[in-house]
Amino acid sequence: MMEEFKRTRRLRENAMIRGLVRETRMSPDSLIWPVFVREGSGIYEEIPSLPGQFHYSPDKLAYAGEAALKAGVKSLLLFGIPEKKDACGSGAYAENGVVQEGLRALKSRFPELYLITDVCMCEYTDHGHCGILSGEHLDNDRTLDYLARICLSHAEAGCDMVAPSDMMDGRIAAIRQALNANGYTYLPILSYAVKYASAFYGPFRDAAGSAPSFGDRRGYQMDMHNAREALVEAAADTAEGADLLMVKPALAYLDIIQRVSERFDLPVAAYSVSGEYAMIKAAAAAGLIDEYRVMCESAVSVYRAGARMLITYYAKELAEAMRRGDIG
Ligand code: PBG
Repeated sequence: MMEEFKRTRRLRENAMIRGLVRETRMSPDSLIWPVFVREGSGIYEEIPSLPGQFHYSPDKLAYAGEAALKAGVKSLLLFGIPEKKDACGSGAYAENGVVQEGLRALKSRFPELYLITDVCMCEYTDHGHCGILSGEHLDNDRTLDYLARICLSHAEAGCDMVAPSDMMDGRIAAIRQALNANGYTYLPILSYAVKYASAFYGPFRDAAGSAPSFGDRRGYQMDMHNAREALVEAAADTAEGADLLMVKPALAYLDIIQRVSERFDLPVAAYSVSGEYAMIKAAAAAGLIDEYRVMCESAVSVYRAGARMLITYYAKELAEAMRRGDIG
């Protein structure tokens, strides 16, 4: 006899059947852990705005490499914090710059790690904006040459992938051209294609000392009200030669992750940014939520929306949760 209603609970009865019918699958291979490399030596210091995350000087970066591999995380996204800043962010493309030194330290010790570098100028400029200024205006086209130089110097120091986060127009084409002209034809570009001007970057700017000294980033990062514009950005970067696309932040932009991953065939990464991490940490410290479960639920939502890779400060803990089968 036909039942008069649908018994959806049949597929939820126990962990085995739930595991069998799961729609969203993920693996530790898809996790990327952001790591802050600070110029100097002997530095291994917890970051006040990001509890559980550290500043490492290049000579201490092996701690991060070991911790990542032990947890089953193979990919890192490196950010640099230089000692000195100037108007044109020269530390960003210096041969012995902090990221370049960090790359060499990690590559020699951990050849099995995949090293992605954030490419931007805001940590290196004394004004804290993401490029070269003309007066108070960010000069898009002059900045392109600098971005290409940064990518080249990262490539020379041994990075596996570059990830430009500056939001200048035309940067992917400029970077691709410079890399190809110097023999790095096979170095992939992960474009921060869809990056919103977001208050969720607050803890990162404290951690990286990269808050702008005047104005804000709304002249180049995207307006949170816009979704169609995300598709324009993604299309432009795809046409210019991006190999992977990123949407950032993640949790407040799940609709954008979904649209971009449905429309484009390139792999899509989402960046669960510093504010997303810090909010979970703070709420957990206040005894308001279960940190582990909220971490898991937030991560699954990003994959469910369509992301195939997740950049997150919880990468190590999530890899563990995936291995245990709590998610994934
Ligand atoms: C720019 C950059 C930022 C982040 C990643 N790359 C800061 C910004 O655009 O202001 C934010 C990451 C985070 O909040 O976790 N170099």
